[in-house]
Amino acid sequence: MAIRINVNGVIGTETDRLISPLDHGFVFGASVYETVRTYHGRPFLLDRHIARLRRSAAALAIGVGPTDREFERNVLDTMAAADNPESYIRLVVSAGPGDLDYRVGASPRATTVIIVKPLPLVPDATYEKGIKISLVDVVRNHPQSVSPLIKASSLLNNILAMRQAHSRGGDEAVMLNHKGEVAEGAQTNVFVVREGLVATPALACGILEGITRELTLGLAAELEHEVAETTLFPDQLLTADEVFLTSTTREILPVVAIDDATVGSGSPGPVTLRLLQAYRARVKTLLSL
Ligand SMILES: Cc1ncc(COP(=O)(O)O)c(C=O)c1O
Repeated sequence: MAIRINVNGVIGTETDRLISPLDHGFVFGASVYETVRTYHGRPFLLDRHIARLRRSAAALAIGVGPTDREFERNVLDTMAAADNPESYIRLVVSAGPGDLDYRVGASPRATTVIIVKPLPLVPDATYEKGIKISLVDVVRNHPQSVSPLIKASSLLNNILAMRQAHSRGGDEAVMLNHKGEVAEGAQTNVFVVREGLVATPALACGILEGITRELTLGLAAELEHEVAETTLFPDQLLTADEVFLTSTTREILPVVAIDDATVGSGSPGPVTLRLLQAYRARVKTLLSL
C-alpha cells in the first residue's frame, strides 16, 4: 500500500519537494481539485471529473496543461507506481509559481498534481447503520463570493463546517446558504425522500454539481420516483422520511440522525437502500465489470 504523487508528469512520493513555495496554489489558495475513486482498479468516471476540473480551473483563469489523454495516462501511470488494490485519486491543478501578483498571467504555468493513495473504504456497517450529520451554522460560500460550483482546493469553508460537526458528534456537516436554505454537505450533496419524492437542492442554491448527485437523480427517475431539484429548508430535512448523502467516495450514504433529531424510523430507509443498490449496479455497467 503506497502513496505516489505525480507533479507535472514526474512521479515521486510525499517527501519529494517538487512544488515551489511561490506556487499561487500555496500562497493564494488558487487551486482546484477532483476526487476520483477506482472500482476493481479502474478509475470511475475519470472523464467527467477531468471535465469538471477544467470548468473549475477556467473560472479562475488557470490553464490546465495536459490534454485529457495525457491526464488519463498520467493517472494510470501513477496508479501503476502506487500499486494499490483500490485507489483514492486526487487531481489538483494550481495556478503555478509566479510573482506575488493577482493579475492573470502572473503565474504562467499551472502545476498539475495527481495524488494516488489506498482508497479508504466506507465499512459495510456504516451503510447498514447510517450516519449522524450536523446542521451547522457555518454558512456555505455565497455564490457571488467563491462559487461552490468551483471545486476549489481552498476548503476553509468546508473545514470550519466539518470541525463544528465533529464537535457535535456528526460525521458530516450540512450547511445552509446565505438565505437559510439547505445547500450541501462539506464533502457531499444532500437528498431527502418524502412520500416517494426524491428531492435535492437545486444548483441555484449554491452547491457543487456533484457527479454522484447527477447519477442518483437519473437512477431515482429510472426507479419511477418523482424527482425534484428544488429549494429545501431545514425543517424539510428534519421531517423527511429519509435523508441521504452522495459523493464519489461515499456513494449513497443513509443519514439516520441530524444532531439530536432522528430521521424517519432511525434506520436507513428503503428508497435510500434501493438507490444504493442501483448505484452499485450502474457502476458495474459503466465500467463493464
Ligand atoms: C462540497 C462538496 N459537495 C459535493 C460533493 C460530491 O461531489 P461528487 O459526487 O462529484 O464526488 C463533494 C465532493 O467532494 C464536495 O466537496
